[in-house]
Amino acid sequence: MEKKIFLALDNLSKKEILQLVEELKDTVMFKINDAFTKFGPELIEEIHGKGGEVFLDLKFHDIPNTVANYSKAVAEKKVFCFNVHCLGGFEMMKKASETIDSYCKEKNLRKPLIFGVTILTSMDEKTLKEEMQVNYSVEEMVKHLALLAKKAGLNGVVCSSKEIKLVKEACGKDFLTITPGIRPQWSVSDDQKRITTPKKAVQDGTDFLVIGRPIIQAEKYNMKRTKAVKKILQEISL
Ligand code: C5P
Repeated sequence: MEKKIFLALDNLSKKEILQLVEELKDTVMFKINDAFTKFGPELIEEIHGKGGEVFLDLKFHDIPNTVANYSKAVAEKKVFCFNVHCLGGFEMMKKASETIDSYCKEKNLRKPLIFGVTILTSMDEKTLKEEMQVNYSVEEMVKHLALLAKKAGLNGVVCSSKEIKLVKEACGKDFLTITPGIRPQWSVSDDQKRITTPKKAVQDGTDFLVIGRPIIQAEKYNMKRTKAVKKILQEISL
């Protein structure tokens, strides 16, 4: 079965990260953000060295040329995927996508998938209106930005469980989605507000799930981490 889960390696020591990769590399892929800043790009090589795949979650947002340069640097690291903010605009996304295509061809590198971040789930309609002076609903913006990302050549977007159907209906089922805010029924919600179960997110059509604490803190639920992943995978396939 193709791997569907990105384990969010947030706020961990390098030792803990490498231990998790060792334990879970056969069933999940690994999402890094603060770890990249703390431990540097060598961490990606170390995760690869242990047989893990990486989602580099750095959400690039800059002028097109700069994001194109980031994209080349990411391609050199041979990650599975990375992301950019859709609000960086069409030209930025297009340049990232074209650069990945041409650079990977030229250097004979595996092409990483590129995902767009539409509207952060920490923002709501009030933030859009009052801070950004955007007079559209979150849903309208998500749909618009997902379509723009598709047109620019991105492979998909990161979206909340509420938005999976909306994105798939607008962009087609081959346009990929990654969904965070996932909580199996047996786990607690932590600081996540709008959560959904892995099963529901997959039923709604999402391609990938981001899950962190329910797996990392599996002991809290009296199970090993491998067991937590197994339970989630079983739940998804039922
Ligand atoms: O499963 P858990 O809540 O531990 O996962 C947290 C991870 O998901 C973090 O890396 C966070 O950045 C990411 N994420 C999120 N909500 C979003 C987007 C990303 O929790 N809307």
